[in-house]
Amino acid sequence: GIDVTSLEKDAGLLTFDPGYANTGSCQSGITFVDGEKGILRYRGIPIEQLAEKSSFIETAMLLIFGKLPTAEERTAFRTLLSEHELLHEGLLHHFDGFPPGGQPMAILSAVINSLGNYHPELLEIQNMDTFTKAVAKLVSKVRTIAAFSYRKSLGLPFMYPDPNLSYCRNFLHMMFSMPNRDFEPTPQAVSALSLFLVVHADHEQNCSCSTVRMVGSTQANLFASVSSGICALWGRLHGGANAAVIEMLEQILSGRHRVKSYLDMVKRKERRLMGFGHRVYKNFDPRARVLKKAAHELVMQSGGNDPLMDIARELEETALSDDYFKSRKLYPNVDFYSGIILRALGIPVNMFPVMFAIGRMPGWIAHWREENRDPTTRIHRPRQIYIGPPRRPYVPLDQR
Ligand code: ACO
Repeated sequence: GIDVTSLEKDAGLLTFDPGYANTGSCQSGITFVDGEKGILRYRGIPIEQLAEKSSFIETAMLLIFGKLPTAEERTAFRTLLSEHELLHEGLLHHFDGFPPGGQPMAILSAVINSLGNYHPELLEIQNMDTFTKAVAKLVSKVRTIAAFSYRKSLGLPFMYPDPNLSYCRNFLHMMFSMPNRDFEPTPQAVSALSLFLVVHADHEQNCSCSTVRMVGSTQANLFASVSSGICALWGRLHGGANAAVIEMLEQILSGRHRVKSYLDMVKRKERRLMGFGHRVYKNFDPRARVLKKAAHELVMQSGGNDPLMDIARELEETALSDDYFKSRKLYPNVDFYSGIILRALGIPVNMFPVMFAIGRMPGWIAHWREENRDPTTRIHRPRQIYIGPPRRPYVPLDQR
């Protein structure tokens, strides 16, 4: 029933590239990925070096402002983050609009979008000064909103941020302190959180970043654009994968499936091996290597006992020696071990994608800014191959 004649006429010369696997949507100077060699660099610096030596805030500055900050610049930015960490009291009422147990990702994207209403002077980025203010608000408040959405989901009182604490420690304080008891995380837990955020901070034109750029290409404001990134991140094939990995490992732990029978189901295409496979990495994902080591260290430091870590290792080893996975070049991706780290930090599974969103915020901002400043930016508007009915007349209601 396809009207091929009109299809051919209308289509002109189009490339048909489902999932945009071979389409370069922009030029970018932010992040370099070589999927064959397993290379990831932010602004030229290898992820392994940043993971070992940098903090999340320094990495965020590198991505957003294009270079590593001097000590003075870093201190000034930290001060700015503290100044902007509180939420407008009016914004706090938004949390009351969500039902008990509401999804933290829904709360996060809605409140981030609403944030722009409370700072109308930042809806148009006029210069570096307004941009830096908008950056400070987003990077700082995403953490406050994330922690508040968790507290709200449990019916607990909000813990306000403490300007004397570092970025990561402050987040753990807002998550886990009680009015009469301060939460004291170990230094290893704070470093593991920073590392988690560093390796999630950007990954070039992934789905959520492309969404931010798509929305930003209409000249939508920064708050609306990154809020759309949060929605794109939510799905199980993207930022929701870290929670899906834990679900899968728990099913195996509970005895519902064994490792081998689980992999057999995957091979029968009844389900996917979550935390495995990547559009770009076809050898290994360097972020997975970094996180596997960190997960192992954190589990050892906190008593050496997470049965899910053992299952993850067994699953990885068995899959990597199986032709099905080898022939399709399927390897653990960033999500395979990240959930083990988040569990060790006491973060509940429904907050996993939210943690990813906190980490990815600098990347989204950097891409929005790059696109916004690029005079060659055009509104993103892909074409399609029409396969619907050919021309036909409208049939009045009494004749249908
Ligand atoms: N488990 C089992 N088989 C898989 C998996 C997987 N995780 N990933 C890909 N495959 C298979 C496909 O079935 C397909 O096999 P076929 O050729 O026999 O049909 C082949 O590998 C190619 O798969 P595609 O779906 O075409 O690969 P694509 O690049 O579109 O998808 C994706 C990439 C979405 C990451 C995929 O590998 C996947 O679903 N992984 C599981 C979810 C996940 O971990 N997502 C996180 C990704 S990283 C991130 O977002 C941070």
